[in-house]
Amino acid sequence: MESSLPDLEAILLVGGQGTRLRPLTLGTPKPLLPTAGVPFLAHQLARARSFGVRRIVFATSYKASMFEPVFGDGAAFGLSLEYITEETPLGTGGAIRNAAEALTSGSDDPVLILNGDILSGHDIGDQVRTHCERGAAVTLHLTEVDDPTRFGCVPTDESGRVTAFLEKTPNPVTNRINAGCYVFTRSVIDSIPRGEVVSVERETFPGLIDSGELVLGYADRTYWLDVGTPAAFVKGSRDLVLGRLDSPAMPGPQGEHLALEGAEISAEAKVQGGSAVGARAVVEAGASVVGSVLCDDCVIEGGATVQDSVVGKGARICAGTVVRDAVIGDGAVVGPGNELQGGVRVWPGIELPECAVRYSSDV
Ligand code: GDD
Ligand code: MG
Repeated sequence: MESSLPDLEAILLVGGQGTRLRPLTLGTPKPLLPTAGVPFLAHQLARARSFGVRRIVFATSYKASMFEPVFGDGAAFGLSLEYITEETPLGTGGAIRNAAEALTSGSDDPVLILNGDILSGHDIGDQVRTHCERGAAVTLHLTEVDDPTRFGCVPTDESGRVTAFLEKTPNPVTNRINAGCYVFTRSVIDSIPRGEVVSVERETFPGLIDSGELVLGYADRTYWLDVGTPAAFVKGSRDLVLGRLDSPAMPGPQGEHLALEGAEISAEAKVQGGSAVGARAVVEAGASVVGSVLCDDCVIEGGATVQDSVVGKGARICAGTVVRDAVIGDGAVVGPGNELQGGVRVWPGIELPECAVRYSSDV
């Protein structure tokens, strides 16, 4: 059972550069990329609100000025939002310490900290309650993944106490990882050095563990995804559209596809597998779009196939083209007959000419 808490404050970490999602993040920060029809963060904000979070401080750095025009004062979400910007990126710990200047919570109060690129189905209310009941310094949400080397590996003892924090170790001791949602007791945030570059993963958590503070793990097996790579980003949007994870921020019903206002999908086109079709995007007769994100104003011509890919704003995929596991930047044009697969990325504005190669065995 999910349950809410009275008037919880949160800090949302949204200052990263989103390097692994280039070229999508060249013009738009990762947390604002369109995901199941809305900026990614809308899902996290609506979900936090549903657990009783009332006030969120955004810790911004990369493309900092782009957040407030999108979310404003938060009233549309029933939230009160503040924006705090680092002049130079301070790392995860430095960002939390910096943003804490805008908190109103007292030193014994729990404060929620969220990485800004996570979709999670876990019960935030239960995590906070566990933190308070056990009197922990920090309580980390933990999940299990197949490849822990890309995350923070977090072993615990049988009481749930975290015994080590091993960020991106090549030799993980467990598949249980840091899921990027923490409850900090406010006074612990205030003990992070101010105005310095600090990593919570490499400095704060190991330091707290070494000094005997209670760092607690809150493990569960609900839906969890870090959308930091192109494949994961497309999967996140797809899973939301298909209803594998519920989100109060969905702009339309869940199903095979979601189409935003002004999208034109031919009755003779196939659009399925949780595809999101942006505003005014066009999918012509005979095109096939599966499990993909089509951004606003893009065009998929007849006979083109787009699968598990992102097609940027205003981009055009010409007739007979195959785009699979690829990222097509804003305004790019993929000429007829091209085949782009296996993680290919096309930079914004690039025009790939028609593919003139003809295969023949009788040379
Ligand atoms: N304000 C600010 N300033 N935010 C930052 C900074 C900074 O200097 N650096 C990173 N962030 C934000 C990012 O925007 C993101 O929301 C969050 O901090 C985590 O950064 P990522 O770049 O996404 O880290 P990661 O995915 O490699 O690893 C982190 O998340 C994993 C779970 O997804 C770590 O916390 C791992 O331990 C964890 O397993
Ligand atoms: Mg991440």
